[in-house]
Amino acid sequence: MRAKLFSKLTLIYVSLLALLCFAVDIAAERDLRQFDLNRQVQDALVSNVRLRILIIFLCVAALGAAALLLFSMRFSARVRKIQEFLTRMGAGEFRPMSVEGPHDDLTLLIESANATAERLGHTIRSLGSERDRSSAILRSMVEGVGVIDAREHLVFWNRAFADILNIAPDAGDGQPVIEVVRNTAVLKLIRAALKGEDALKGNITTGIVQLRMFAVTAAPVRATDAANSQIGEKPSGAVVVLHDVTELRRLERVRQDFVANVSHEFKTPLTAIQGFAETLLGGALEDHKNNRRFLEIIRDHAAQLARVTDDLLKLARIEAGKLEVQLGPVSVADVVDLCTETALLRAQRKGIVVEAEIPPDLPPVRADARLLREVLQNLLDNAVQYTPLGGKIEVHAEAGPCEVTVAVSDTGIGIPLADQERIFERFYRVDAARSREVGGTGLGLSIARHIVETLGGKISVESEVGRGSRFSFSIPKAA
Ligand SMILES: Nc1ncnc2c1ncn2[C@@H]1O[C@H](COP(=O)(O)OP(=O)(O)OP(=O)(O)O)[C@@H](O)[C@H]1O
Ligand SMILES: [Mg+2]
Repeated sequence: MRAKLFSKLTLIYVSLLALLCFAVDIAAERDLRQFDLNRQVQDALVSNVRLRILIIFLCVAALGAAALLLFSMRFSARVRKIQEFLTRMGAGEFRPMSVEGPHDDLTLLIESANATAERLGHTIRSLGSERDRSSAILRSMVEGVGVIDAREHLVFWNRAFADILNIAPDAGDGQPVIEVVRNTAVLKLIRAALKGEDALKGNITTGIVQLRMFAVTAAPVRATDAANSQIGEKPSGAVVVLHDVTELRRLERVRQDFVANVSHEFKTPLTAIQGFAETLLGGALEDHKNNRRFLEIIRDHAAQLARVTDDLLKLARIEAGKLEVQLGPVSVADVVDLCTETALLRAQRKGIVVEAEIPPDLPPVRADARLLREVLQNLLDNAVQYTPLGGKIEVHAEAGPCEVTVAVSDTGIGIPLADQERIFERFYRVDAARSREVGGTGLGLSIARHIVETLGGKISVESEVGRGSRFSFSIPKAA
């Protein structure tokens, strides 16, 4: 670069100088020839002048070339610096260039390049941090999010998306979505979104043992045309969002079931009461063989109605946060003693053994003794209720780091896996007819769970059909 510039400038300079010298030489010779001198003297004078012109030419040419060399060296060095600066900028480094040398056009160029670099650097930095922030938000979202480009390739997805749609952990960016996502309903929505359809919604269910339901929303992405800042007609991709609605659907079902269940719970005893009352009025009152039995049936059904009403009111009070709770240190051993004693009466009638094993050094819990008794009594009543003749019931308690866990195990009929997570719902019974027959309301475990949660603990069940069940709940230790 430097050599080229130098040789070009030197060539132009020397040519111009040579031309000038040539013109001076011609003019000098013409002037000398005008004098009336003999030819030999004229020739001697001309060659003398020519020699001087040549010497001057050589000196001026050498000086000029040296000056040009110096100028071209400095110029090239500054151009090289600009070149390096632009290469740096291309690689993403926007540090400004130092402005040195004379204040010429090149300096102005450097100054405006520096200003551009600063603006570019700022824009790129803010774009980068915005991208990092968006990607962090998308990655941490519980909703599954996937982005598909116009060629139907999956270009972005978060962990929730991969978990829900079972995407292999080694699936790379930009794979065809059909190879990665196997769910036909989701694929259909993606294709429709890529065709430009808006507000696409669907539902999918995943899992085999534990079903999970997701609401799927797919929307087209329309890139903005930078030239005229208009949104393009054809989508440049699609975004899919998967939202877990399992709990929502469950609650909807529970609410619907609740109304149906309450009506049903009241209808059966009311029909019986009405029926037997009419029978008695219709003449059975005089039937001394049956009238007492009919009245007993009416009393039993009325008692069942009263139980359901009591339990419902209790649940409503708990759910409204109006339960009276008097927290204080409670001895688990005392509660267990009292409850097992009550359960023993019914257990003995069925030939069921009840054993309690409470460590003597068990710390007290922070609870309300009356509520704690209600929970344990409920679990023991269920254990007696759902354990056949000659079975065994055990009550264990042990202290953890912050809580005490009490467990009631039985050798009863057990609970199928699918019902285990639902038995804590209001009115849910594995065998509703059988439970109702023995006066159950299906609200006992629901009340127990609410009480345990109000006391700051947790309740759970493990069970195997035909082998028995183990209900355990934990309550925080007293400070
Ligand atoms: N120990 C157990 N063994 C087997 N099944 C059980 C056991 N405990 C509870 N269940 C099942 O869970 C259902 C709900 O129990 P829950 O105590 O809430 O209602 P319930 O016993 O039917 O009536 P109640 O409201 O009078 O207690 C029962 O109907 C029964 O099917
Ligand atoms: Mg019960």
